[in-house]
Amino acid sequence: MGARCASTLVDRIRAAGVPPESAVAAAFEGGAHRGRSDTIARPMTKVNSLAVLGAGTMGSGIALVAAQSGIRAVQIDPARAQLERARGYHAKTMARAVEKGKCSAADAEQTLARITYKDAVADASGCDWAVEAVIENGDIKKQLLKELQGVLPAHAVMASNTSSISITDMATAVGADAHRVIGMHFFNPVPLMKLVEVINGLATSAETTERTMELAKVMGKTPVAANDRAGFVSNRVLMPLINEAFYAWMEGVAKPADIDEIMKLGCNFPMGPLRLADFIGLDVCHDIMMVLHRELGDPKFFPCPLLRQLVRSGRLGDKSGRGVFDYPKG
Ligand SMILES: NC(=O)c1ccc[n+]([C@@H]2O[C@H](COP(=O)([O-])OP(=O)(O)OC[C@H]3O[C@@H](n4cnc5c(N)ncnc54)[C@H](O)[C@@H]3O)[C@@H](O)[C@H]2O)c1
Repeated sequence: MGARCASTLVDRIRAAGVPPESAVAAAFEGGAHRGRSDTIARPMTKVNSLAVLGAGTMGSGIALVAAQSGIRAVQIDPARAQLERARGYHAKTMARAVEKGKCSAADAEQTLARITYKDAVADASGCDWAVEAVIENGDIKKQLLKELQGVLPAHAVMASNTSSISITDMATAVGADAHRVIGMHFFNPVPLMKLVEVINGLATSAETTERTMELAKVMGKTPVAANDRAGFVSNRVLMPLINEAFYAWMEGVAKPADIDEIMKLGCNFPMGPLRLADFIGLDVCHDIMMVLHRELGDPKFFPCPLLRQLVRSGRLGDKSGRGVFDYPKG
């Protein structure tokens, strides 16, 4: 391809308002967006220890999968109750795995012994890797990255499990270390779901991307790259669908159980969109819609009033015992 073709492409990209440096990299790298075109000069550093910030739905799953892959996991959350909930979830999941013959009692014991439960970011010191899985709030995540930068060794990657927030923006919190920040988007429930959506910010280095792909595979997952746009691919497509299911319910098109049944039987979904919203957490769905709305500027992304109302009333889904549907405890 001659220089003329390349410059025509750059002109088209410029006209579309995309930073040419990143778009040209994307065009020539098969779509995986990279802000820098550096090649990998150093050998990969093995990940022996991984800090997981946040012990909620996602953080507890990520810590368990890391431990099952032979990596020492430090589960960190300022809320002691969340740490205890995670510890209970880990013990129960491993006991069930033994019962089902998926692993020996000794293996389960070793897996659990690899997880420690801590309440301060400083406890991440010395870890080779950190994944933050705290609530979907950009300011909180940026503050956390800054704190992590202060305690992690220079080779450690700072990954975010964000569902929708810009990795490029988050990385500005750590200045010159932005090349070590990446999106590592696991899916719920983490032990079962195969995908890790890998999101490169503008400054993410090729080495960080390569190491993230490698770590995802070590953890038994399939990494797939997506560009840094609000919601990436998964939530850009999924969340408006869930939101629309709330509108269908609000407008009385069908009862919630019937909306789900129609989507399961008619579209071959394993789970209806309203059941899935409860499973994800209605607050999480709401926060993701707000990010999509703010970042993409289209009113179609504004959260349905009924979803907003349920969140305000504390009906958050499975985790609160009630969302669209009821989940009696015990
Ligand atoms: N729930 C899902 O299905 C899902 C799927 C993929 C990605 N995500 C993303 O993962 C992240 C976490 O979601 P979740 O569903 O696990 O939320 P959650 O509400 O279950 O858990 C969030 C946890 O973060 C903790 N936390 C808050 N501030 C903290 C801090 N400064 N340091 C350490 N811990 C802190 C809270 O105590 C809580 O335990 C969000 O960014 C969300 O968008 C969620």
